[in-house]
Amino acid sequence: MKTPTLLTVAAMSACAAAIAVASSATAAATAVPDTMLAAAFDHGGGPNVLSLHRLPVPKPKAGEVLIAVHSAGVAVWDASDRQDPGEGAHFPVVLGTDGAGIVAAVGAGVHGFKVGDAVYGTGDGFYAQYVTAAAEDVAHVPKGVDLTAAGILAVSGLSALEGIDDVLRMKAGETLIIHGASGGVGTLAVQFAKLRGVRVLATATTDDGLALVKRLGADAVVNGKSGDIAAAARAFAPQGVDAVLGLAGGEALERCIDALRPDHRGRVAYLYGIEPIPRPRLYVQMTLYSYISGVREFDQLNQAVEAARLQVPVAAEYPLADAAQAHQRMAAGHLLGKIVLRVR
Ligand SMILES: NC(=O)c1ccc[n+]([C@@H]2O[C@H](COP(=O)([O-])OP(=O)(O)OC[C@H]3O[C@@H](n4cnc5c(N)ncnc54)[C@H](OP(=O)(O)O)[C@@H]3O)[C@@H](O)[C@H]2O)c1
Repeated sequence: MKTPTLLTVAAMSACAAAIAVASSATAAATAVPDTMLAAAFDHGGGPNVLSLHRLPVPKPKAGEVLIAVHSAGVAVWDASDRQDPGEGAHFPVVLGTDGAGIVAAVGAGVHGFKVGDAVYGTGDGFYAQYVTAAAEDVAHVPKGVDLTAAGILAVSGLSALEGIDDVLRMKAGETLIIHGASGGVGTLAVQFAKLRGVRVLATATTDDGLALVKRLGADAVVNGKSGDIAAAARAFAPQGVDAVLGLAGGEALERCIDALRPDHRGRVAYLYGIEPIPRPRLYVQMTLYSYISGVREFDQLNQAVEAARLQVPVAAEYPLADAAQAHQRMAAGHLLGKIVLRVR
């Protein structure tokens, strides 16, 4: 396991590494094998149910691309899907809702992608050497982002940007509390908010987390477990904050919402999956949302990533064969950014 690193998208060395990885993966992608390795499980349970399986390489249907996966994101909901795969699960189950790699084949009717393109996107089954994904849920890797960072960019990036632009409609000069800012979504949300000219008060639970979000651009920080959120918010925005982005649930989120401006114009966005969800409040616009994946959404994400010269914090990196250890690490918490599985 590597220690947490920041991948600076603008760094020349990262570009060079990405190109090197892309070209070697392109060569591999030209011959698609019949079978592949995937980290999968045959029944629900703890992290140790995950092990390498040899499975058939999927074939892209019309409108799909086949991706030779370089890296896959390990998401917080992967743990609950692993623990409780549900009645309708088809075993072996391959997890992984986002990742990055090289296009290895394209299905009928796909435009805009060709074999050898470096792409990232959302779908199902990225914990594998190959995955198929709908072409509209895939995009070219933005300039300067290496394939490792791209592997954890799609879901967190869309969730962060859409929260700020589409749900909260943040404007330059407005104030925003990002609660739960040191995780996968929050570290990107801080940077997108700053790109839009928004002033940010960020919460995290550890000194390392607070230092990270400060480094990523937060104007002010407060510990969401041991700090005085009300006092920090008053000092940050004496008239009350314009908005709250909720990336973690609980009492601390309620304290953030308490800090909204009192003139009925405060707004809250919180992601589906946080627990507990915030209690409804009179005269506060509160929106539960999930990320949307699509051509327009990825265009906007790529523009924002390049404009922000986005840094994508990798909390830890594990080889595909160590997916179980990756899940154990996730269970221990306090991740700075998101875990990536290295597939190639
Ligand atoms: N529906 C969707 O479209 C969608 C998409 C993406 C994410 N989500 C959900 O959105 C949430 C955030 O996702 P994520 O990937 O960013 O998860 P994450 O990496 O676990 O981030 C959550 C962060 O909140 C922090 N936190 C928890 N309690 C806190 C407190 N009292 N004060 C300050 N920080 C606190 C955690 O810090 P510690 O680890 O140090 O406690 C962690 O860094 C998750 O619930 C996820 O399931 C939903």
